[in-house]
Amino acid sequence: MTRLTILEYPDPRLRIRALPVSDFDADLGRLIDDMLETLHASRAIGLAATQVDVHRQIVAIDVSHGGDAPQVFINPQTLTGSAVGLVEESCLSLPGIVDNVKRPTRIRVGFHDRTGAPQVRDLEGLPAVCLQHEMDHLRGILFVDRLPLISRLRIRGRLRKRRQETSDRAGNRTASQARP
Ligand code: NI
Repeated sequence: MTRLTILEYPDPRLRIRALPVSDFDADLGRLIDDMLETLHASRAIGLAATQVDVHRQIVAIDVSHGGDAPQVFINPQTLTGSAVGLVEESCLSLPGIVDNVKRPTRIRVGFHDRTGAPQVRDLEGLPAVCLQHEMDHLRGILFVDRLPLISRLRIRGRLRKRRQETSDRAGNRTASQARP
């Protein structure tokens, strides 16, 4: 298994809409295994294929923290949603950003499993919220897009400042290396 590289905001590839999976073959199985490896290695609870630059409708979640309860959703569709609540979210593609997002906390989802068999599952609480966050990725949506404008502006400013600091550090390193 291979640990995959995760795209980070503002990479434009995070905005690509994923296409449905139609071939449930060995390549798909390998990709899913790599996504699960990446998810667990990152100590995250959810990963969408979009985040590893594969634009297919595949989501892996594992809210167990022990890495022993992975769930894979292919071509997921929300069938019903209820009990809207405010839950704290973060994202591997937006390191260091945490904020509260309003979503249904109870959903029924239809999807294909890794063999291509259609399934329906009811999710509640963290798994429900996590899956919706990942399904947003498949549509090119980041959780910060769902925040009020004032929060988005604050986060955008913070990310810009951090990128500036990173590039300044890289610049200083290059300058010192160039010194005779
Ligand atoms: Ni995310």
